[in-house]
Amino acid sequence: MARDEPLLARPASPNSSTNDIEEEDALLTGQPTNRSPVNRSRRWTEIGLFVWALLATIAVIILAVVYQHETSTAHARPRTGGWGPDGKPSGKRNMIFMVSDGMGPTSLSMTRSWRQYASGLPIDDVLILDKHHIGNSRTRSSSSLVTDSAAGATAFSCGFKSYNGAISVLPDHTPCGTVLEAAKKAGYMTGLVVTTRITDATPACFAAHANRREYEDLIAEQMVGEYPLGRVVDLLIGGGRCHFLPNTTEESCRVDSKDIVALAKDKYGFTYVDNRKDFDDLDPNGVKLPLLALIARTDVPYEIDRVHVADVYPSQAEMAHFALKALSAATQDSDKGFFLMVEGSRIDHAGHANDPGAQVREVMAHDKAFGEVLDFLDADDTEGVLVSTSDHETGGLAAARQLHEAYPIYRWFPEVLDNATHSTEYLNHEWAEYLSSASSPVSRNDQASKLRELIISGLGITDTTDEEIDAIIDAKPTWPPFYILSDMISRRSQIGWSTHGHSAVDVNIYASHPSHAPGLVGNHENIEVGKFIAEYLDVDLEPVTKELRSKKVKTQGAGEGEEWGEWMGPEGLPVNGDGSLVTVDAYHGDFKHRKREVEECGCGARH
Ligand SMILES: *[C@@H]1O[C@H](CO)[C@@H](O)[C@H](O)[C@H]1NC(C)=O
Ligand SMILES: *[C@@H]1O[C@H](CO)[C@@H](O)[C@H](O)[C@H]1NC(C)=O
Ligand SMILES: [Zn+2]
Ligand SMILES: [Zn+2]
Repeated sequence: MARDEPLLARPASPNSSTNDIEEEDALLTGQPTNRSPVNRSRRWTEIGLFVWALLATIAVIILAVVYQHETSTAHARPRTGGWGPDGKPSGKRNMIFMVSDGMGPTSLSMTRSWRQYASGLPIDDVLILDKHHIGNSRTRSSSSLVTDSAAGATAFSCGFKSYNGAISVLPDHTPCGTVLEAAKKAGYMTGLVVTTRITDATPACFAAHANRREYEDLIAEQMVGEYPLGRVVDLLIGGGRCHFLPNTTEESCRVDSKDIVALAKDKYGFTYVDNRKDFDDLDPNGVKLPLLALIARTDVPYEIDRVHVADVYPSQAEMAHFALKALSAATQDSDKGFFLMVEGSRIDHAGHANDPGAQVREVMAHDKAFGEVLDFLDADDTEGVLVSTSDHETGGLAAARQLHEAYPIYRWFPEVLDNATHSTEYLNHEWAEYLSSASSPVSRNDQASKLRELIISGLGITDTTDEEIDAIIDAKPTWPPFYILSDMISRRSQIGWSTHGHSAVDVNIYASHPSHAPGLVGNHENIEVGKFIAEYLDVDLEPVTKELRSKKVKTQGAGEGEEWGEWMGPEGLPVNGDGSLVTVDAYHGDFKHRKREVEECGCGARH
């Protein structure tokens, strides 16, 4: 295009002197101008031909520019997203809602710059998400300026603010109907796809109700249908298998002997797969729904680790692709489409771990899945809308860091992140394995060499100090080895973090097109996202809420003698062994197994 630019800058004018035209001709052909006198009519023929060529070239350039603009704005054909001319949603339509858990604005700049560095791209080569940014969401909960994922997802699922820890339950501990439940009742097919436990707060909020997010055993039962509304989800793909298996099995993390897999299969008719091989063998066009695919015991590994075991775990994009195909096929003959929630769950975990090397790959995995959904919407006959946002930011991430008293240089170094091939969580696990597998106590020297080996091979850091090695060897459960490993990569890349928990910064909202989500353009309260989903699906949540409230049932409790009381679990806040209150953001797991998880992975379970 560069060669053509002078043409556009200097359009042919009737007043151009022949010399000017000659000069332009020279610019075009690269030949010196011919200044010898020529025959007048031949001259005019030449001018005519040239003007024709010039106009044709301009036309080609304009067409090329227009075409490029069309393709880069993603939607070559005019699509309404399912909005009618009266501004109301109409006809058969699909809604895909994506959540980038814990992804704040800085996660985007960090990932964008790392990607440009790593792939040698120009500074205007941005993420797919960047091209679809339409607004921002304010994230506070009813109980705190800093929300957790439970209150964050309740805002999306019910359209109400609630307290940190609430799974689609209001501050008065009454359940609120969700967009997924209402969609199911209205005839849509429904699906949830995540990269963490399917019982974790974000997915749970769409198809379960619990007074505390920690009741994941209870949430597992509800999600397959064991609650007042019966089964409402047609497709569940993610991790968290341990909450579905009875405590008599090796893989279980349940406190009781209930077999939720058997319950799902026998009572609710689920097709069940528990590994990648069987997942890959499913035909999205023919799979019998409902489907329960639990492809990891707990979390799916971080993308930076998953790529080394891609034969064991599918990626977020692969799971999303399958879900779109399966739901599309299942609704083929219906006049209603589907509602699908896809979560990039572990951007949040990398934030909690303060691990920038892991986070940039998590954001890329989400960006890829976002692109996958856009491609689906472009190709699909049914209209649809994609909206993606975060529940909150995690880590108080900063793309700059002051390391010394001297005034800081204005830099951060993506090359450091690029050298990492594993997460600090993975290295922490390797380290714990090494220590626990030794038959006799390992000498300090041997520990140091092992650590240096792990750090070089996993983080690509070659200038580890003795102080850093000492800190890892002497690490305490409250400040585990991976915090120190994360700090090593963060300092070297000059990436800053202000917390291992969440922060209150506004997060971005993305959509397939601004006109697909007009109500979310600009700055909004997070509950408006939930209200938008209900508006687009044209569903009323109030009757669902009424039904949930009218059906108070007692369910079998956790352990023998222990009673859940109401079906959403006890209202009380969970307490530690010493009676002190458990802080919500200190962990995402089942609090009953906190001790066991600490023992198992040695990582403090601080996801
Ligand atoms: C398994 O759950 C049952 C209750 O369903 C309980 O009685 C038993 O102690 C549990 N076993 C273990 C090993 O936790
Ligand atoms: C990245 O790795 C290469 C090759 O091991 C090494 O030469 C380089 O110093 C590393 N860069 C950083 C910033 O650590
Ligand atoms: Zn979250
Ligand atoms: Zn979190």
